[in-house]
Amino acid sequence: MKNCYVISTVQHKPIEINSNPIRNTTNTVKKVLILYYSQSGQLQNVLDNILMPMRQDSNISCDYKQIKPKTSFPYPWKFYDFFDVFPESVYLNGCEVEAIDCQKKYDLIILGYTVWFLSPSLPITGFLQSPQAKKIFKGKPVITVNACRDMWLTAQEKMKSLLENVGAHLIDNVVLTDQGKSIHSFITTPRWMLTGKKDAFWLFPKAGVAENEIEEASRFGERICTALANDLEKKKEPLLKNLGAVNVVGKLIATERIAHRSFLIWCKLIKKAGPPKSRGRKVVITIYAFFLLALVLTIVPVNIIIRKLLYPFRKKQITKAINYYEAPSGK
Ligand SMILES: Cc1cc2nc3c(=O)[nH]c(=O)nc-3n(C[C@H](O)[C@H](O)[C@H](O)COP(=O)(O)O)c2cc1C
Repeated sequence: MKNCYVISTVQHKPIEINSNPIRNTTNTVKKVLILYYSQSGQLQNVLDNILMPMRQDSNISCDYKQIKPKTSFPYPWKFYDFFDVFPESVYLNGCEVEAIDCQKKYDLIILGYTVWFLSPSLPITGFLQSPQAKKIFKGKPVITVNACRDMWLTAQEKMKSLLENVGAHLIDNVVLTDQGKSIHSFITTPRWMLTGKKDAFWLFPKAGVAENEIEEASRFGERICTALANDLEKKKEPLLKNLGAVNVVGKLIATERIAHRSFLIWCKLIKKAGPPKSRGRKVVITIYAFFLLALVLTIVPVNIIIRKLLYPFRKKQITKAINYYEAPSGK
């Protein structure tokens, strides 16, 4: 049997794939549904690159659909609008979305989502909670694709439960994160979201995912083409192993856990203060913003030092957690 190697410009271990059949074993065109919600177009750009090889494959038909919230969210965001979606995002309240126009039975679904406050964005949550989602997703293999700052672990855990609720099988997870160190994107991502400016400034790199990383996402599409030609999606097992689909940063695991715990408390307070856009909410959001600033200037640096000191004693535990979050696609 002839073997081929999927090669990408990134230094990833090539894996052997049986590339024998030109058509898949059932001799049918494979139908792939791609659903996403992207504000600036970055996630859409990532998906375009993944889809490039798939669109050139005459054995694959791609239905590419943007999820549309009934009330659109602003971009760039105003300060209070940005934090106004905080409680509903964290508590997975979703938002109303338009039904999507699709009838076909799909062989594979690619779900592109971004992270809002350690949770899937409101339109994606809203769609996954809509009655239509169960009909589309039930029993289907799903690949999630995420382009976010760098805090995505909790969101993916929430995504797992949303997908489980609609009876889908999560087979792969691809995550691209913003360029620069976490400390850089802590400034560059909110600046981009609140002003629309992505350019590099002072000591800070450009906001968003690096362009070469976005282009190299086509390697996932190449692998999907080969997998579909071999009917591998039917096994409901990962298709994107050894392609560097995710990179779990060990030191962010504890940070996310602590942040999410505090998010749950603050979101409860903000919700109690009033409905979305109310004056009461604005007051608590203002208090939260000052709290966040104080936290960043005091507790965060102390936390970094403590974590560095404790690392040798927690190495085994962190490695175990990394392996867990890397699943199903792995590094
Ligand atoms: C309201 C809001 C909250 C966000 N929260 C997070 C977050 O918790 N973690 C993260 O890694 N990125 C976060 N981001 C960044 C997004 O995940 C994403 O990178 C950005 O919105 C660009 O995506 P898009 O323009 O393709 O929609 C947030 C963005 C917004 C608008």
